[in-house]
Amino acid sequence: MGKFYVTTPIYYVNDVPHVGHAYSTIAADVLSRFYRSLDYDVFFLTGTDEHGQKVAKAAEERGLDVQKHVDEMVVPFKELWKRLEIDSGFIRTTEKRHEIVVQAIFEKLREKGDIYPGKYEGWYCIFEETFYPESQIEEGKCPECSREVKWVSEDSYFFKTSNYIPRLHKHIEENPDFIMPKSRRNEVLSYIESGVQDVSVSRTAIKWGVKVPGDEKHVVYVWFDALINYLSGIGYHPDKKKQDPNFKKFWPADVHIIGKDILKFHAVIWPAMLMALGEDLPKMIFAHGFLTVGGEKISKSRGKVIDPNELIDKYGADAYRYFFMSQFTFGLDGEYTEETMIKRINADLANDLGNLVHRTANMMKKYYEGNVPNPKYSQSDKEGLTRDIKIQINGIPNHLKRYLKVLDFSKSLAAIWHTISLLNKYIEDMAPWQLHKEERNDELAKVMYTLADGIRAVAQFIYPFMPQTAEKIWKQIGATGDLKRFPETKPDIKDLNDWVVLKPGSNFKIAEPLFPRIEE
Ligand code: MSP
Repeated sequence: MGKFYVTTPIYYVNDVPHVGHAYSTIAADVLSRFYRSLDYDVFFLTGTDEHGQKVAKAAEERGLDVQKHVDEMVVPFKELWKRLEIDSGFIRTTEKRHEIVVQAIFEKLREKGDIYPGKYEGWYCIFEETFYPESQIEEGKCPECSREVKWVSEDSYFFKTSNYIPRLHKHIEENPDFIMPKSRRNEVLSYIESGVQDVSVSRTAIKWGVKVPGDEKHVVYVWFDALINYLSGIGYHPDKKKQDPNFKKFWPADVHIIGKDILKFHAVIWPAMLMALGEDLPKMIFAHGFLTVGGEKISKSRGKVIDPNELIDKYGADAYRYFFMSQFTFGLDGEYTEETMIKRINADLANDLGNLVHRTANMMKKYYEGNVPNPKYSQSDKEGLTRDIKIQINGIPNHLKRYLKVLDFSKSLAAIWHTISLLNKYIEDMAPWQLHKEERNDELAKVMYTLADGIRAVAQFIYPFMPQTAEKIWKQIGATGDLKRFPETKPDIKDLNDWVVLKPGSNFKIAEPLFPRIEE
C-alpha cells in the first residue's frame, strides 16, 4: 500500500491552545486514521512554533526565561491532543534535531547564493510575525490584525524567493489540486502575479531564535525556521548521508493542513524554499476557513475565547470531534455557537446513532438473549429493503475515499449519517416486534442480523472521526475482527449471504447510552 504524510501548522506557544488549533489538528487526525485504516503507512506531524518575537514577548510578560516559558507552554498542547485522541508525531522548533536542520539548510542556501546579505527596512508586525511593504500600512497599523507595526531597519539575510516564482506559477497552473480550495488557489495566483519580493530571513534585533551559522548576531526569521519543521520532523537533512530513511519514505507531504491566514507562507515561500533545496513540493496545501463568533475570527486577542477543554469536559472528546468536523465546510468560515453544538449532539449522536444502537441492543436481548442470529438471506431479499440497506452500506467506503481526498469532512459524515437514518427507518419499516409476535423467525433473524451488521459497518465508518465511540460500539456488539481495517466497497452484490461480516453468535450487549441527551 501507499504512504500518507499529513501535517498541521505548528502552533505558537505564546498562549494556550484554542478551538482554531484543535480544528486543524482533529482534521489531520481524521485523515491519518482514515488512511491507516486503508493500510497506508501514515505519518502525521503536529507540533509547536517556539521561536520568534511573539513567544519571547509572552515569556517576558510572564517574567520568565523564554526556554522555561516554552517548556511550560507546550504542556497544554500535548495534553489537549491527548484528550482529543490525537495520534501523531510532535515536533518543537526548540529541539536540537530541528535547529540543526534549520542551520544546515540556511548554510546550504547561502552557499548556493539563494540566501544573500542585505539590509531590511520596512514594517514588522510582531503578532503576525510578518514583514509588510509600506504600501500595505495604513496609519501605522498591520493590514492583517490592525495592531501597531514597528519600523525595522537592520542588517538581514534575504532569501531569493523571486527566483522561483515563474516555476511556482507554472506548477500551480498545472496542478489544480496543489492549493485547495480553488478560491485560495486563485488568491495565490493573483498574489504572485502582482510580483513577489525576496523575503527577509534573519533578524539582528532579537536574540530568541536559531542562530545563523557563522554570523551569530543574526537569528533565523521565525517563519523560515518554522516551515522547516515539515522536513526536520521526518528526519530530513540537506546532506543525504545524514537523512533518516523516514524522509525518503514520507516526503513529499500529501497534505499540509493550514488556516487561510497563513496561506502565503505555505503556498509561496515554502515551495520556493523547497525548490531551492531541490526537493519535491507537497502534493496539496489545504487552507481551511476560520471558526467565528458573531462573524469574527475566534481569537483571544479579539476577546473571543472558547476553551476546547471546557467543551470536552462537558460533552466528551468524540462529540467535540464530531461537531467540528460535521458542522462546517472545511474550506469556508464557520460560525460557532454552543447552542448549535448541543443541538447537533442531541440530534445526531444521542438520537440517531445512540438510539439505533440502543434499540437494536434491546431487541437483540429480548429476541435472542443478545446473541446475533444467523441470517439465511434468500433471492427475494434482493428486491427488498434489506438489499437497499446493504447497497447503501456497500457504497460508503468509496464515497468516503472520494470526499476525504478533498478534505470534505462534513460530506463524509453526512453520508455516514444517511446510512444511520436508513437503519433507523429500517427498524420502523420492518417492525421486528411484529415479526416476533407473528413468529416469522426467518425474517426476524434476517432483520436483526442486518441491523447488527449495519451497526458494525457504522462503527468502522465513524472510527476515524470518533475513535472512542467506535471502540465502544465494537465491544458492545461483540465484534472480533479489526475495527480499524476499513471495509472495501464490493463491486457487485450477487448473494446477500456473502455479506455476513459480523459473526452470527456474537454477543450484542445492552450498554450505557453512547451519548446522554443534553438539556437544551
Ligand atoms: N506558528 C504559525 C504556523 C507555522 S506553520 C509552519 C501560526 N501559529 S498560530 O498558532 O498562530 O496559528 C496556527 C493555526 O491556527 C493557523 O493555521 C490559523 O489559521 C489557525 N487558527 C487560529 N485561529 C483560528 C480560528 N478562529 N479558526 C480556525 N483556525 C484558526 O500561525
